[in-house]
Amino acid sequence: MSWHPHLWHPTTQVATSPEPLQVRSGRGCELELADGRRLIDAISSWWVTLHGHGEPAIAAAIAAQAQRLEQVIFANFSHEPAEQLATRLSSLIGLQRLFFSDNGSTAIEVALKIAWQWWANQGQPRHQLIAFDGAYHGDTFGAMAVGERSLFTAPFERLLFDVARVSWPHTHWDDDQVEQREQQALAQLDLALQTPTAAVILEPLLQGASGMRLVRPGFVRAVASRAAASGALLIADEVMTGFGRTGALFACQKAGVQPDLMALSKGLTGGFLPMGVTMTSERLYQGFIGTDPAVTFFHGHSFTANPLGCAAALASLDLLQANPERFQQFEARHIPALEQLAQHPRVQRPRALGTIAAFDVEAGNDGYLNPVGKQIQRLCLDQGVYLRPLGNTVYLLPPLSLSDLQLQQCYGALAWALDQLG
Ligand SMILES: Cc1ncc(COP(=O)(O)O)c(C=O)c1O
Repeated sequence: MSWHPHLWHPTTQVATSPEPLQVRSGRGCELELADGRRLIDAISSWWVTLHGHGEPAIAAAIAAQAQRLEQVIFANFSHEPAEQLATRLSSLIGLQRLFFSDNGSTAIEVALKIAWQWWANQGQPRHQLIAFDGAYHGDTFGAMAVGERSLFTAPFERLLFDVARVSWPHTHWDDDQVEQREQQALAQLDLALQTPTAAVILEPLLQGASGMRLVRPGFVRAVASRAAASGALLIADEVMTGFGRTGALFACQKAGVQPDLMALSKGLTGGFLPMGVTMTSERLYQGFIGTDPAVTFFHGHSFTANPLGCAAALASLDLLQANPERFQQFEARHIPALEQLAQHPRVQRPRALGTIAAFDVEAGNDGYLNPVGKQIQRLCLDQGVYLRPLGNTVYLLPPLSLSDLQLQQCYGALAWALDQLG
């Protein structure tokens, strides 16, 4: 194989990366390569493949919908799959309105724009947003602005709007200093909230891209109650944590908070089709209704409420709700294997939440550029397991249908790879 002459791959430096693997098919938790090799997709293809690849019920729902209506402009028209999805997600999440977009980043853009314009529509504009250190909310400009400023965003720095920052008191097993870090973060939040704030945005319970960084539910509750007391809206970015990933249907439910806005994507369609949604409260929706055109939310995408995506999402929700034990019991499956792996001298800060298990590899500096992740990736590929560590943070985030044997294979590959590091 070689690099294709006409493709440009995401987040990939061609000068230093191995050529991409050619995939022929995907079934369950496995990818079949063109050379016949089979790999366990232990990160759900960038956290999207919720149940498994090729899930027949979702494939069938998409095929059936394609025979009826593949797409229609969603201004002037509505359709049943969109209405059903809005009704179902509203009742599951407790937010009454659903706005469609195309992916996680756009779901965040929509949330930020709604929050910002809602205050303006009230005649009381608020000009501060608060976000957390280490946050990742996507690669579009608004999403980059609220995310951590990093190597990824450096070329665009001048184009990114200002955001107030609060530290993220992430924790792991046997962490005896977490309380102190939480108090510091909450003190920073209290200070920031003294400035009128339009919204506080966070990844509830777990920051994904910055290294699977968990916070305790009590911290999320403390943030939510402070935001509410100040009148600031709370935006929950559940693009990664939604749909069972944290062991509850939504991380906000596990943390016991009700946000004003929630962004969802990734697992929404079971990982079959790109789609994002932003859920909001009725109170926010009402703030955009009036005869003055200026209060309108002038935002829309060509593929808004794509019927195929809606059909996939409905079929995915059916599967998720029919088998809640699959996400509720996943953490209990990780724990013994992670406990054993944590005995390895290279394993630091083990942690698990729902379907996700992570640890840091002791290998010099922490961070995304630490090459040890790429070494582990290569070694695990040799063992038939596909991983994509974030620098020296290694994690498993597999589809819900992963069998016990496949889980053992993942941990076995990791143990072997750690031994090879010497
Ligand atoms: C928490 C979170 N928010 C937003 C995004 C952006 O989603 P997308 O890649 O679909 O634009 C991601 C992607 O990884 C994410 O993890």
